[in-house]
Amino acid sequence: FIRLQDLIAQNALQGKRVFIRADLNVPQDDAGNITEDTRIRASVPAIRAAAAAGAKVMVTSHLGRPTEGEFKAEDSLAPVAARLAELLGQPVELKQNWVDGAGLEGLQAGQVVLLENVRVNRGEKKNSDELAQKMAALCDIYVNDAFGTAHRAEASTHGIAKFAPIACAGPLLAAELDALGKALGAPARPLLAIVAGSKVSSKLSILKALADKVDNLIVGGGIANTFMKASGLNIGKSLVENDLVDEARAIIDLMAKRGAQVPIPVDVVCAKEFSPTAVATVKAVADVADDDMILDIGPQTAATLAAQIAKAGTVVWNGPVGVFEFDQFGEGTKTLALAIAQSPAFSIAGGGDTLAAIAKYDISAQVGYISTGGGAFLEFLEGKTLPAVEILTQRAAAQ
Ligand code: 3PG
Repeated sequence: FIRLQDLIAQNALQGKRVFIRADLNVPQDDAGNITEDTRIRASVPAIRAAAAAGAKVMVTSHLGRPTEGEFKAEDSLAPVAARLAELLGQPVELKQNWVDGAGLEGLQAGQVVLLENVRVNRGEKKNSDELAQKMAALCDIYVNDAFGTAHRAEASTHGIAKFAPIACAGPLLAAELDALGKALGAPARPLLAIVAGSKVSSKLSILKALADKVDNLIVGGGIANTFMKASGLNIGKSLVENDLVDEARAIIDLMAKRGAQVPIPVDVVCAKEFSPTAVATVKAVADVADDDMILDIGPQTAATLAAQIAKAGTVVWNGPVGVFEFDQFGEGTKTLALAIAQSPAFSIAGGGDTLAAIAKYDISAQVGYISTGGGAFLEFLEGKTLPAVEILTQRAAAQ
């Protein structure tokens, strides 16, 4: 695909109408205050660079999952506009009902406006050509910088790229793809992946895709329970998906055939109940009782895995290995997080819970790359094509 930076180097943005699709879908509290602004911060470089290059900059994003054609106050990007203005150090006016170009005629070079929640427009989710053509008509250059939404084929992430005079990738989208490509394309080996979380079913395709590639597949959380059961261990009353035990066994066998491994815990942290005040007990896996619930990996397992992380060339991390929200079940996740921070391996992490763990154990500066993608990050790991990226690549071939 074409990169925004290349167009800027050619001085191609001066006086041009530039439409940037960012992912500014950030969490807010009930009062509408932004509680976490990483995605806004990550979107600033593209916006700043376009404005500095003399473009008339229009930025848009979705926020949440609003009903099409029914704009409600809580769907508004107004808090995002305010935060963006602070970060950019220049005014960012929020434009309503902008699809037909109302209020966009007099934009000046270097000006930045934010176009209200793109998903309120009829046809956005369905990727309607009619809407995409209207949005394309607003600009000379379309920039997709929304990695977090790259797995969605919507009018502002996909359709518009077919019709805009020029379509290119912004620096955040390009950086995300570069980092993921480095981790999974031609990775420094051993390549180690941590795939954890409560359910095998939600990550089965990722586990299968990675089982073909990685040297070491660390499973954790409820996912590990199903793998432990597949290895013949008693997991008491732990969360398990019995219908996926055979799939888990097949993954273990496939990995073994390749000379790769799925390390199964040797000790675990158990409780009799799932609660913030539950008493944590460390047990060897052979001692897990029928009324035990496994809520974390044990210290011996964590130490072994940390040693493997220390020797890895590349680490891909998605999901905490225990119920780290409760401190007594957070030691496993903490040990692995610190091992990732200290390892010379190139590391990449993504997913909401993983980012929360990175924040809790304060290791963000030591992770090689932290993705802004949730679903998009997971779909990349699954080896799926991201439609918003594919269309940019097709356009570049035709441009
Ligand atoms: C996300 O938060 O993962 C992205 O912004 C995509 O949002 P969506 O799942 O509502 O499409």
